[in-house]
Amino acid sequence: APWRATVLTLFPEMFPGPLGVSLAGRALSAGLWSLEARDIRASATDKHRSVDGTPAGGGPGMVLRADVLAASIDAAGIAPERPRLLMSPRGRPLTQAMVRNLADGPGPLIVCGRFEGIDQRVIDARELVEVSIGDYVLSGGEIAALVLIDACVRLLPGVMGKLESGTDESFSDDLLEYPQYTRPQLFEGRTIPDVLTSGDHAKVAAWRRAQAEALTEARRPDLWAERRARQDGEQKGPG
Ligand code: ADE
Repeated sequence: APWRATVLTLFPEMFPGPLGVSLAGRALSAGLWSLEARDIRASATDKHRSVDGTPAGGGPGMVLRADVLAASIDAAGIAPERPRLLMSPRGRPLTQAMVRNLADGPGPLIVCGRFEGIDQRVIDARELVEVSIGDYVLSGGEIAALVLIDACVRLLPGVMGKLESGTDESFSDDLLEYPQYTRPQLFEGRTIPDVLTSGDHAKVAAWRRAQAEALTEARRPDLWAERRARQDGEQKGPG
């Protein structure tokens, strides 16, 4: 069965949204993955279809009800091997390693938070794993879910052709990308670095690596330190 994302949201009309065009959209039309957006409100039980309540203990905003969200999760009929995620700014930061793991599996259930939060009891009772896409606050989890799905879909078999593969896998995983150039040779007084037009493939590769390393050290000391630590470990051997 192809990779599948099941999204629980109060705004199902936000899907597939931008994932319906370009690379992800073509792959969706081709059946390389599928998307199911389910309306949490369909699991409301009272006559007003209420999905939220005021926070216990007081305070601003509204909280998504545990009973309604639990019913929505149960109605989705998710196989136990599929990850159950909750998009939330207090979650574990999304990394390319997590994306690769998710893309290698059957595809997640993704709950999109709204309001001031979600009743903690449903997070606990359904064992939702909270995931954040960064240290800023969105108005809801939907855009975060789109980001996570996009990052997974581009890794699925057959989605990216060899030519579109974007990154040079030989040293892209823990380094920022080296600068790229194309025609014209002269743009507003700026030329393409000579090494790139020299035809010397070994020299080109060495220049790109040096550029990628310099950029990473300057802009992302956190990634640079991790890379240094990993390389030190590899030198000592796996033990
Ligand atoms: N919902 C609101 N902000 C978010 C974030 N930064 N990551 C994931 N989900 C969110």
